[in-house]
Amino acid sequence: MSTAPMTQAIKPRILIIGAGAMGRLWAGYLQPCSELFFATRTAQAPRIDFVFCDSHGDRHRIDIPVCRNHDLAPDLILLTTKAPDAEAALVSAEQLLHRRRPVILFQNGMGSQQAIAARFSSVPILAASTTEGAYIDAAGELIHAGRGQTWVGALNECAHSHVATAAEQLGRSGLEVSVDKDVEDRLWQKLAINAGINPFTALLDCSNGEILGHDYFEERIGAVCHEVSQLMHAVGRTAHPEELEARVRDVARRTAANSSSMRQDIRSGRPTEVDMMNGFIARESESLGLPAPVNRALTEAVKALR
Ligand SMILES: NC(=O)c1ccc[n+]([C@@H]2O[C@H](COP(=O)([O-])OP(=O)(O)OC[C@H]3O[C@@H](n4cnc5c(N)ncnc54)[C@H](OP(=O)(O)O)[C@@H]3O)[C@@H](O)[C@H]2O)c1
Repeated sequence: MSTAPMTQAIKPRILIIGAGAMGRLWAGYLQPCSELFFATRTAQAPRIDFVFCDSHGDRHRIDIPVCRNHDLAPDLILLTTKAPDAEAALVSAEQLLHRRRPVILFQNGMGSQQAIAARFSSVPILAASTTEGAYIDAAGELIHAGRGQTWVGALNECAHSHVATAAEQLGRSGLEVSVDKDVEDRLWQKLAINAGINPFTALLDCSNGEILGHDYFEERIGAVCHEVSQLMHAVGRTAHPEELEARVRDVARRTAANSSSMRQDIRSGRPTEVDMMNGFIARESESLGLPAPVNRALTEAVKALR
């Protein structure tokens, strides 16, 4: 008779708040090994079903109930909304939060994570930084476009004891998941790259690779990286402007054909995350008395596109 360990026999109950590209990506890979629920702000239907196209191009039909039950006791909550919606989404699920139920934030940019960690200081708040790439195509299918890596770490004091279990539960998906002792630093590094690529792709309406060599990008990227580096230094993180710029150029080259999320948001008339990227850099710098005119101007320019 099989004697599978208890941890493998019991499926963790996972609530995913936000049934967009990130939420559906994790749902697609976690469904075989978890009991999943979606929380949405709009869906009236009792279930969400969609076609999930995995990284091998194999297609699967995924069917997940929408949580209507305020008594649901999830083992883990994944918050997969865009950054500007994140805090409000968690507030609307407040009755499900508990000091023993970790919440993993998947947002890019900076600011929303710290606001949530401070507001819900008695709830274990973790952040994930991921290089997985996913989008919902015109037919409504979830496309896992690029396989990457995900790092998970604690954002507030009470989260530390939950990191290993949460990473293990996410890792059952088969995606590569690691624990990061300083996930906030990883978020800063990603912020620097996003701030150096995304607004330019939105303003020039071009792919990541096409910004390189463009006058508009070349005239500003040095200043963007200088402002980011100055702010990171002020908050106790090391980042040399030349190294940041070299990394921005390297990522733009390696992801040359990609269309950034900010460009896609502008194209579809959706709000962008610029306020949590270049806008965050401008606001935080100004609050510390540091000038950040180029990040400020890029933020205003992207917002003016809508
Ligand atoms: N997609 C990627 O490849 C990728 C990669 C790395 C990081 N990220 C980051 O992951 C985050 C999510 O990105 P995404 O691409 O998944 O965005 P998305 O496709 O726009 O999905 C966000 C989802 O959140 C839902 N939502 C908003 N407010 C809600 C609320 N109060 N309650 C429940 N659901 C709510 C939205 O619903 P509506 O349809 O009602 O608006 C939407 O379905 C972003 O911060 C992004 O930067 C994405």
